[in-house]
Amino acid sequence: MGISAAGQRTDAAFRPSDYDFGMARKRQIVLYPDPVLRRRAKSVERVDDSIRDLVREMFEIMDEEEGIGLAAPQVGESLRIFVTGPHADGTHPHMTYINPVLSGFDGELQAHDEGCLSLPGIRGEIRRQPHAVIEALDVEGKPFRMESGDFIARVWQHEFDHLEGILIIDRMTALDRLRVRRAVKELESGG
Ligand code: CO
Repeated sequence: MGISAAGQRTDAAFRPSDYDFGMARKRQIVLYPDPVLRRRAKSVERVDDSIRDLVREMFEIMDEEEGIGLAAPQVGESLRIFVTGPHADGTHPHMTYINPVLSGFDGELQAHDEGCLSLPGIRGEIRRQPHAVIEALDVEGKPFRMESGDFIARVWQHEFDHLEGILIIDRMTALDRLRVRRAVKELESGG
């Protein structure tokens, strides 16, 4: 997920090809309209070394792309995993969420501009719950729980949507959807 609040980066100028240093890596960012982005991801049955390898690669890719969140379907793996990165202000360390469950929604929906690494050049206002509770497993398979009324609650909701096959273009206002229609069509026809 990319954010355009003051002092924070946007995704629009970032393309995976800009960051190809020729390193041997199995995975790369999957762009819309790849069908893996529309699938409901499967639960992780066992948190083992293959999962930890995937998570490590997701962190590498997210950091190179300067994203603040990345879900496994975005690197072609239809599994219920996402990672989040540090905020621009240095808060929130790298975190891994395996088989996450979101709850604790209270309060009025709040709109904020969002982008997505799988939808380069596309941004729009998305209304989300301002507060959330997340329960998930960490990379060691240990359950944890976090609560936030902060920006990270929005990131969780964005990344969780990826595990359900939901993208920001599904949640935009009709007006924003119209505004990004051409960019979406270009992605659909292969950029
Ligand atoms: Co995204």
